[in-house]
Amino acid sequence: MDSDIDRILYDHDRILGRVRELGRDIAAHYADLEAPLTLVPILSGSIIFVADLIRELPLKMRIAMLQLSSYPGTATSPAQDPATLIELTGPVSGRHVLIVDDILDTGNTLRRVRRMLLDRGAASLRTAVLLRKPNKAPTDVPVDFVGFDVEDLFVVGYGLDYNDLYRNYPHIGVLRPELMP
Ligand code: IMP
Ligand code: MG
Repeated sequence: MDSDIDRILYDHDRILGRVRELGRDIAAHYADLEAPLTLVPILSGSIIFVADLIRELPLKMRIAMLQLSSYPGTATSPAQDPATLIELTGPVSGRHVLIVDDILDTGNTLRRVRRMLLDRGAASLRTAVLLRKPNKAPTDVPVDFVGFDVEDLFVVGYGLDYNDLYRNYPHIGVLRPELMP
């Protein structure tokens, strides 16, 4: 796997340090919340991030997962309207919700998820993303907690995939270009 990676952008220790800081920011934001928080991780890209993040959050919480597909097959540019693959696994009505996703690119995914959660009556809605790509982040898709502003490159590792591979690569890096036709 290592030999498929051209360049590491964020190594595992740096990611964990940043996730710890995000945990502190999020915990401070919800410090006065008496009800449990509901995290909505968007599968599958956010699995590693959310697993590390929740262990940095000393809050009462529930998890309701959801899967959307944004890339058809091996494409590396997103479809306009991501399809729902796995329905939300828990209720959000009247609950305080924090969406957790791996990366904000065009914002189509988060726009759709936000609309769905608001339609279902979330009492409050915030969003945490590990990575945010430059320039494209649309103003109608607010994100409240951002790990890193990343270069406009296709990245893999720490949950992020190419063709469903490399999610278990511990760092975040760029694939060798010849592997991404
Ligand atoms: P958006 O809907 O365009 O904002 O895309 C968000 C989703 O596309 C993310 O949750 C990822 O699953 C995927 N994605 C976007 N950029 C990358 C990347 O550089 N590497 C891997 N997946 C990505
Ligand atoms: Mg994703």
